[in-house]
Amino acid sequence: MDRIQLVNTLIETYGYTRYLEVGVQKGDCFEQIKVKYKTGVDPELKYMKKRYKKSIADKLRNTLNNTHWTYESEHVNLHELSSDDFFANPGETYDMVFIDGLHLFDQVLKDYTNAQQRLNPRGCIVMHDCNPLAEQSAGRVRPKETNVWNGDTWKAIYHLRKSGQNIDVLDFDHGCGIAFKQEVPENIWTDSDVEHLKQLPFATLEADRQAAVGLRSWEDYRKTQLSRQAG
Ligand SMILES: C[S@@+](CC[C@H](N)C(=O)[O-])C[C@H]1O[C@@H](n2cnc3c(N)ncnc32)[C@H](O)[C@@H]1O
Repeated sequence: MDRIQLVNTLIETYGYTRYLEVGVQKGDCFEQIKVKYKTGVDPELKYMKKRYKKSIADKLRNTLNNTHWTYESEHVNLHELSSDDFFANPGETYDMVFIDGLHLFDQVLKDYTNAQQRLNPRGCIVMHDCNPLAEQSAGRVRPKETNVWNGDTWKAIYHLRKSGQNIDVLDFDHGCGIAFKQEVPENIWTDSDVEHLKQLPFATLEADRQAAVGLRSWEDYRKTQLSRQAG
């Protein structure tokens, strides 16, 4: 199981049609998602620009309106924007949001809160990189010595769960967090929470991953949670 299979399984199980991906990069995941309508957001879409060529009319419209780069078709929309800028403009709602942008807990807290606001009833959020296996890949700075960088995304999950959000983390592909549509209280994190979370040691995760981020196996989740949500 990996993040792509998970997203496709959820889309198929619940009959979702509207998908948003935060952090698209080369489109490795985006291109493999089987859904009717897809939107992708990333401040750096250079690979996707090569694949999705715009018409001359679209190029002109972008230039005249002096807006960010976009690609718009009936089934695929792309926006070269940060998630904060994307969510700042009121817009569509989605059945599924995959959060895989900037892997810093404070950004993930914002992405999660914004995604919940744009989620349709019975919709679902999947978050990548929630279970870093080594401290080396779990810092706030991308390490030079390895390609793997999960950042401190896990701290966002830790805080959201402590604040009452119902989130599970599945134990494959660097940890995939799952949260269905739910109320997110205002001020779910404060400046002092952010300071506290910055100091939270990796040992907290390592000591008990189940307690820290709600780690569980796909088999267990599929048998219990997935069938209950589908019912
Ligand atoms: C790990 S890659 C995404 C991989 C992709 N989701 C996949 O599974 O193939 C992370 C991406 O997040 C993008 N990113 C960084 N900061 C971002 C932000 N503030 N908002 C949205 N995307 C961001 C980066 O440009 C990068 O392309």
